[in-house]
Amino acid sequence: MTTVTKAEAPHNKFDRQTILVLDFGSQTSHLILRRLRGLDIYAEMLPCTTKLADLPFKPKGIILSGGPSSVYDEGAPHVDRAIFDLGVPILGICYGCQEVAWQINNKNVARGEAREYGHADVNINKVDAHVDRLFAGIGESMHVYMSHFDKLVSLPEGFVVVGSTKNSEFASIAHKTKDIFGVQFHPELEHTPRGSELLRNFSVDICGAKPEWKMGDFVQQEITRIRTLVGDRAQVIGAVSGGVDSTVAAKLMKEAIGDRFHAVLVDNGLMRLDECKQVKETLGKHLGINLTVVDAVDLFLGRLQGVIDPEKKRKIIGSTFIDLFEKEAIRIEKDAENTPNAGKVEWFLQGTLYPDVIESLSFKGPSATIKTHHNVGGLPQRMMDGQGLRPLRLLFKDEVREIGRKLGIHHDLIMRHPFPGPGIGIRILGEVTPERVEIARKADNIYISMIKEAGIYDQMSQAYAGVDTNKAVGVMGDTRVYGYIIILRAVTTSDFMSAEAFEFPWKLLQDIARTIVNSVDGVSRVTYDLTSKPPGTIELE
Ligand code: XMP
Repeated sequence: MTTVTKAEAPHNKFDRQTILVLDFGSQTSHLILRRLRGLDIYAEMLPCTTKLADLPFKPKGIILSGGPSSVYDEGAPHVDRAIFDLGVPILGICYGCQEVAWQINNKNVARGEAREYGHADVNINKVDAHVDRLFAGIGESMHVYMSHFDKLVSLPEGFVVVGSTKNSEFASIAHKTKDIFGVQFHPELEHTPRGSELLRNFSVDICGAKPEWKMGDFVQQEITRIRTLVGDRAQVIGAVSGGVDSTVAAKLMKEAIGDRFHAVLVDNGLMRLDECKQVKETLGKHLGINLTVVDAVDLFLGRLQGVIDPEKKRKIIGSTFIDLFEKEAIRIEKDAENTPNAGKVEWFLQGTLYPDVIESLSFKGPSATIKTHHNVGGLPQRMMDGQGLRPLRLLFKDEVREIGRKLGIHHDLIMRHPFPGPGIGIRILGEVTPERVEIARKADNIYISMIKEAGIYDQMSQAYAGVDTNKAVGVMGDTRVYGYIIILRAVTTSDFMSAEAFEFPWKLLQDIARTIVNSVDGVSRVTYDLTSKPPGTIELE
């Protein structure tokens, strides 16, 4: 495949309306973005160490996030002092507030003796029209959530106190004449119920950002951006899986460059029951996407024969996928020769979402928890670097779903649980054989259908039926049977990094178990996996 040298434009067309969040490594920094986007205000996040001279756009305002450090720690992160000369409003949150005070005079912040953690009520002082804008409309007190160790012990020069709690005299501060504000609490957390109002006051009223972040506009802008990047000859290839991310990304590509976008579905024999057929119908027929289905069932199952080590299984599935994907790219280029669309395959589509972008930009550095295998099809790093087109890179999952709805994608697909690239290959413990694939598929189909019928599918984050390595004895009628053990898994999670087993109504779980044993030949038992993550993982392998 041709190597792409062009760089994807990193920022969006809302540059002039962007609130920039500088991240000091707090667990909740991304929630500031979520809250702002929920208010239709566009926000992006960069590491706190960003040199302002390198900023490719001028933000409307800057928010300094919280963070785990103490401003006194050796190597503690500090913001480029140039932010104070940029002439845009600044709001410091928690560590960000201490950072503002410390930058002005390092005696303003003291190490705490004990962490202040939990709910508090801030009494709001009325000062003057300039200062009062931060808490405008909120009243005389505000319920907030605190989580800090160090605290302000004196006011930075030129500042006044806007809010105090029992434990923090300087719970909120503001500069008397400049647009610089600080809060010791966390307005981004749900535990601070009126936090959004404060963030809105800052972003819209103080910074003047227009609440214009609308998904419809985003779709149009992204289509234009893709057209400009790709030009009028190049081809783009993208793996699709039937999941919401790859489907929305593929539909955006189709809208942007028509049939020069080639969606490839590799049928590896490890998809769910009838899934391949469904993807063909949805993407090919309903969405009009130029889709090729590569039938590679025998190739994958052949290579997996006799393999029981989970990592080996993943590697075989991943590398076989890449071989086929690269072959497809060559075929597409060949087919396009001598046609008006005779461009090379210069880009490949990635379904990367904003949380992964944030992780990779995080001040803490790319997190060890990021898994490259979590990209569509499990693409390896060499294909991830430099030549990917990422139309969803600025979006959170719920925003992708909203776009999916706008693009006419069916509700069931939009709300579908995630499905891993290696498919049911990592849900069948031990060797993957055609017989075990068949059993896993049938059991999974019954399980998911009964969950949907019970109306609880959307209450869980992921559910599936897997197959154990061992067999167990059972009795059916008068006959002794020796059959497979099905492992049911269902979890709830907000980030897939940690998860809890879903609490089923007992009767439903019993019904599911009975139906599976009665309907799937070769199964003698059904178990429910209660393990949380950690120590378990969501998948079985
Ligand atoms: P684990 O099993 O690591 O899974 O707790 C967390 C989330 O990641 C998904 N997952 C994968 N997704 N390729 C993918 O595209 C993979 O190889 C892969 N492994 C795990 C898993 O389904 C869950 O949502």
